[in-house]
Amino acid sequence: MNEQTPNQLPERPEPYWRITSQLASFPPLKEDIKTDVCIVGGGISGITTAYLLAKEGLDVTLIEADVLVNGTTGHTTAKITAQHDLIYDELIHNLGIEKAKLYYEANDAALQFIRKLVKEEKMACDFTDEDAYLYTTNNRGVSKLEHEFKAYQEIGIDSEWITSMPLDIPIKAGIKMRNQAQFHPVKYLAHLIKGFTEMGGKIYEHTVADDVKEGEAPIVVTRDGKRISTQYVVAASHFPFYDGAGFYFSRLHADRSYVVAVECDEEFPGGMYLSCDEPKRSLRYTDMDGKRLVIVGGEQHKTGQGMDTMYHYAALEEYSQKMFTNSKVRFRWSAQDLVTLDKVPYIGKLSRMHPNIFVATGFRKWGMTNGTVAAHVICDLITHRPSPYEELFKPSRFVADPSIRHFMSENLDVAKHLIKGKFDDADKSIDEISVDEGAVVKVDGKRAGAYKDKEGCLHVVDTTCTHMGCEVNWNNGDRTWDCPCHGSRFSYKGEVIEGPATKPLKSLKDK
Ligand code: FES
Repeated sequence: MNEQTPNQLPERPEPYWRITSQLASFPPLKEDIKTDVCIVGGGISGITTAYLLAKEGLDVTLIEADVLVNGTTGHTTAKITAQHDLIYDELIHNLGIEKAKLYYEANDAALQFIRKLVKEEKMACDFTDEDAYLYTTNNRGVSKLEHEFKAYQEIGIDSEWITSMPLDIPIKAGIKMRNQAQFHPVKYLAHLIKGFTEMGGKIYEHTVADDVKEGEAPIVVTRDGKRISTQYVVAASHFPFYDGAGFYFSRLHADRSYVVAVECDEEFPGGMYLSCDEPKRSLRYTDMDGKRLVIVGGEQHKTGQGMDTMYHYAALEEYSQKMFTNSKVRFRWSAQDLVTLDKVPYIGKLSRMHPNIFVATGFRKWGMTNGTVAAHVICDLITHRPSPYEELFKPSRFVADPSIRHFMSENLDVAKHLIKGKFDDADKSIDEISVDEGAVVKVDGKRAGAYKDKEGCLHVVDTTCTHMGCEVNWNNGDRTWDCPCHGSRFSYKGEVIEGPATKPLKSLKDK
């Protein structure tokens, strides 16, 4: 164990992946266009779908509200594995053995697809084969793992029961899933983007999809009023940008989690690790300029409902210091993940009424494989090939248990926050706010949010979320306003960073 005083965390959250790889940039859409398929969202699911459909000879246009790979895909820990925490025992219990098997097979096929593509195209994307370990350090966790391992055996997953791991953590038990992988997601997607554009695919960044006009063929309308006439729309925008009466906001919840990348004196032995205990800890390594960085993740909570967000980074920093000698945090970042009612992603037709609009969302923390699965399922559906996974991932499914139970508890949670936020007191008065500080204040007797930037300029917004009226809370780790109800996030100026909200927070004053 290493005792040392706390390090200084990097001032700004910046994911290692974005800093160490450059992507081509693309212009915003400036005119009305026609295309076979319009994909909305430039993360792994949107880019892989675009790549696969262009390979099928379709004319594909991808639009992204911000820049490519800057959402959840750019903020992942980038494990490519079918070991998705404790899941298979639960899937067998809730959905049956056949669907649990399909879930594993779909994710394993995604891993094999990425592995094959990386090899065939000789991609320099820091891809390495690694075993994945799910472990517990206490006796309570052992029985959970025993059930999970039994599920692995029923499904036929190549795995092993273990009582020690290559990484020196005093575990009680663990499950090793063999032959999984990790990579640098931005470098990997840079290859797919290049391949896609070389096949004639078109990309527009800073182009916000606002609505879909439905008729014989859908038209995607951008915030600037440009129209994309198309045969098919794919909403790969994390939270679907278009709901189409699918009520996705009531069937998804948003979780935030935190990551630090640390330098230390130890040699990391390889492997990818995840504890099934609380608080969870995720570990893997990556090599940067000949030095090994350890990527440490954890500290999950519902968006807008955590404590001071810097606390979560500090907890990961403290954990790293206990685990590794002379550990120093080089990067920190956070991620937002969407979770469905039964933990299986929604992939397929937006709803029964919308045969030409597809959605891909709810990957939990496992977007590298689930996002790739989504691309394959949607590609099969658009090209009229049967997909073995269509029924499993169908967004319109609603199973008796756990969907109803979780639907009720999610929506009770929303109601609780909707009411509670209205009665929250101000944190302080506007005059007490320091530079680079944000807080809930009162303006003309009403709840408002204020942030004083580095130049001393005050940005004050109405804290009423533009989605359904809950009150947003300050996130000081990312300098954002986060909604506790369905996870919308806004910049300190009130601009939308993540939906379901599509409209900015009302600006009260900037001075
Ligand atoms: Fe739904 Fe804020 S995200 S009310």
